[in-house]
Amino acid sequence: MKLAGIFTAIIILPLFITITVQSSPYTPPHFIKSTTNHSNTTTQHFFELTHPLPTDTTPPSCSVSLLNHSFANTYNKPPVTVIHSPEPNSTCHWSVAVLEFRAECKGEQYDRIAGVWIDGVEVLRTSTAQPNENGIFWIVRKDVTRYASLILKPNFTVTVMLENLVNDEFTGVYHVNVSLLFYAKPDTLPLSSIVPEDLQARKLNRLNRLNRKLISVKHDEIGDELGQNRGFRSLKSLYPYDKPADLIVPVSVSGGFKEGFWFRIEDEHDVKMKNVEISNKAYKAVLELYVSFHGNDEFWYMNPSDLYMESNNLTTGRGHGAYREVLVTIDGKLVGSVVPFPVIFTGGINPLFWEPVVSIGAFNLPSYDIDFTPFLGLLLDNKSHSIGIRVADGISFWLVDANLHLWLDDSNVQAWIVKSNVPSMEIEREDEFVRLDGEFKIKGERNSEVTGMVHSSKGNMQIRFTETMKFKNKIKFKEEGSKKIVDQRYKRKTKIKITNESDQLIESLEVKVKYPIKISTDTKPGLDANTSLMTTKVEQERSERFNGGKDYMELRHKQNCTGLMVVKGHSVLSGSAENQQSYNYNDDSGCYSRMVDVVDGAVVGDNTSSICVD
Ligand SMILES: *[C@@H]1O[C@H](CO)[C@@H](O)[C@H](O)[C@H]1NC(C)=O
Ligand SMILES: *[C@@H]1O[C@H](CO)[C@@H](O)[C@H](O)[C@H]1NC(C)=O
Ligand SMILES: *[C@@H]1O[C@H](CO)[C@@H](O)[C@H](O)[C@H]1NC(C)=O
Ligand SMILES: *[C@@H]1O[C@H](CO)[C@@H](O)[C@H](O)[C@H]1NC(C)=O
Ligand SMILES: *[C@@H]1O[C@H](CO)[C@@H](O)[C@H](O)[C@H]1NC(C)=O
Ligand SMILES: *[C@@H]1O[C@H](CO)[C@@H](O)[C@H](O)[C@H]1NC(C)=O
Ligand SMILES: *[C@@H]1O[C@H](CO)[C@@H](O)[C@H](O)[C@H]1NC(C)=O
Ligand SMILES: *[C@@H]1O[C@H](CO)[C@@H](O)[C@H](O)[C@H]1NC(C)=O
Ligand SMILES: *[C@@H]1O[C@H](CO)[C@@H](O)[C@H](O)[C@H]1NC(C)=O
Ligand SMILES: *[C@@H]1O[C@H](CO)[C@@H](O)[C@H](O)[C@H]1NC(C)=O
Ligand SMILES: *[C@@H]1O[C@H](CO)[C@@H](O)[C@H](O)[C@H]1NC(C)=O
Ligand SMILES: *[C@@H]1O[C@H](CO)[C@@H](O)[C@H](O)[C@H]1NC(C)=O
Repeated sequence: MKLAGIFTAIIILPLFITITVQSSPYTPPHFIKSTTNHSNTTTQHFFELTHPLPTDTTPPSCSVSLLNHSFANTYNKPPVTVIHSPEPNSTCHWSVAVLEFRAECKGEQYDRIAGVWIDGVEVLRTSTAQPNENGIFWIVRKDVTRYASLILKPNFTVTVMLENLVNDEFTGVYHVNVSLLFYAKPDTLPLSSIVPEDLQARKLNRLNRLNRKLISVKHDEIGDELGQNRGFRSLKSLYPYDKPADLIVPVSVSGGFKEGFWFRIEDEHDVKMKNVEISNKAYKAVLELYVSFHGNDEFWYMNPSDLYMESNNLTTGRGHGAYREVLVTIDGKLVGSVVPFPVIFTGGINPLFWEPVVSIGAFNLPSYDIDFTPFLGLLLDNKSHSIGIRVADGISFWLVDANLHLWLDDSNVQAWIVKSNVPSMEIEREDEFVRLDGEFKIKGERNSEVTGMVHSSKGNMQIRFTETMKFKNKIKFKEEGSKKIVDQRYKRKTKIKITNESDQLIESLEVKVKYPIKISTDTKPGLDANTSLMTTKVEQERSERFNGGKDYMELRHKQNCTGLMVVKGHSVLSGSAENQQSYNYNDDSGCYSRMVDVVDGAVVGDNTSSICVD
């Protein structure tokens, strides 16, 4: 990693030091809710704001229950694996497959990370909600049609990993049921037969005011309720997943059935590699990355520099600055990278924020695509190649793995690289601190460009990939480090253009993402001994725009959380919190938006609309 940087550091060593542990900036912002004072006596439905799948309102043509399992003391144990082998003559015609992950839990427990794999290929990365005495449940549904080549196999394995610890204090056992639901062609229905008013509304939307319908959140039946008000019907699959891959090669742990399929990355030098041999017939290839961060890097965007830690004799490991990037290599050559969306788990910053609505992405962590098509020239030589994954500046620990999606031609394919420039991120760092207070700034930028040629029976294609990304992080510590303010921006613009021999555009995709996050925490001594009072704020957005010419998809999911809590150690004793979220999704078939306002764990406002607004 190239460090083109300014290192300014003002270090004034104090003559005497009285750092109270309480107000050091070092309490990790990860907590557990005290469950003893929970007023709610019913099993509460937790949820993440997302758009309902168009299939949610239709009964599946067929479904398979894959696994029901209770995750109690599963720490350091092999994951749970089942073999699914359907009856030889039980045919089910489907065009859409949905993975359903249901979970329930009761008692006291930390949030946990979990994953689901089919034949070692990750299909869902999820985290758990923190339960309470009366019990909670939630349902995650994910369109997994892109993994069709695995699901269509005569038999396959399904693995679920969720490491949990149960003892006298932490009593929560996570009960998980996983199934696959299959639907026959939901998008062959003409749009007009479902929502004529909405089509009309879409045309008029620029003039019309919001016409929001108040809906109540009923247990379980969320899909049905929303279905009556649904404005779009298609399951959008843009390039590259407009047609599921013919073959998916896992870039995951080989002994995954024993130790779990994800790679555990401990530091920046830790490169995880997997050798793959790729069929000569591949004319399109995409690496899909799954990523989550934990331990000292759970809040990597809040980590100050090592210099600050050393200067203040701090022993915590939560340092190494606040720039992280997942880097992907082919035979050691950098081919792509991802600055992941900073998903906050349900114990993060202030756990009172995340009940019953969890943080953006917590139940369905985003995966990230790196287009390998322009690099096929490196791979199509009948030889084995190593795909490497590491985390720039990473510290312990990250859980990563990837799926290599391959689309196959009928005959052999020839490919070569015309031009390739994927540089390391140019980073500038600035540290300015006096004792525990100061400011840390990191700025990074990268412009990549790759052009590859692929000759197949589909024609002679040129694939041109360009990407620009900008990263900025600023951390401020005030009042002996008891006040922390984090402001991070990340922007990426990716263009993929496929043209044929006569320079005609065959396919194009433009992706723009923005992941800004602002966090502030202010810790003061509490009224009771050994307690502290924390004021917490989170403002975050996930904004993603995919433009594939005729196909289009846009997501803007925001959260604004403010709250107070009384904390003792890692336990939240009491507090008050508000979480306002807005979710806006639209594609060329319609719009969906939902706004939720949660105060002290109760949903006080929940409006859904299928009217398109600008
Ligand atoms: C899981 O439990 C459901 C009942 O909730 C049952 O119908 C299903 O057969 C079970 N699946 C497995 C794999 O045991
Ligand atoms: C196939 O299915 C039919 C009816 O669904 C059943 O009668 C028959 O025994 C099955 N054949 C096999 C080989 O399982
Ligand atoms: C899971 O299946 C079991 C039956 O095996 C059922 O009792 C339980 O309610 C199901 N849990 C969820 C969360 O659906
Ligand atoms: C799974 O299918 C393969 C062939 O595709 C077969 O060799 C194997 O025995 C099957 N395993 C089970 C458990 O059915
Ligand atoms: C850090 O520790 C060293 C050696 O114990 C000591 O000389 C120095 O004053 C300490 N600095 C701070 C800021 O605590
Ligand atoms: C790879 O092997 C196939 C036959 O299996 C052959 O037709 C092709 O030319 C080989 N490609 C290269 C680049 O060696
Ligand atoms: C390139 O694509 C255009 C539009 O699809 C098509 O008309 C033309 O024949 C193609 N040219 C070649 C050489 O394949
Ligand atoms: C506060 O913490 C100190 C040190 O851990 C301990 O000795 C003391 O008993 C605690 N006081 C209360 C009220 O918990
Ligand atoms: C976030 O919420 C707080 C409290 O409700 C409000 O004062 C503030 O204006 C909101 N910020 C944004 C960006 O909506
Ligand atoms: C318990 O809940 C009540 C009502 O929600 C609240 O007034 C009280 O402050 C809470 N007590 C503690 C210790 O959190
Ligand atoms: C209790 O749970 C129900 C059902 O989830 C919810 O409607 C209600 O708002 C909750 N009340 C409080 C005080 O949390
Ligand atoms: C929902 O709509 C009502 C009526 O328009 C409005 O008063 C309320 O603030 C809205 N709530 C949210 C969370 O948007």
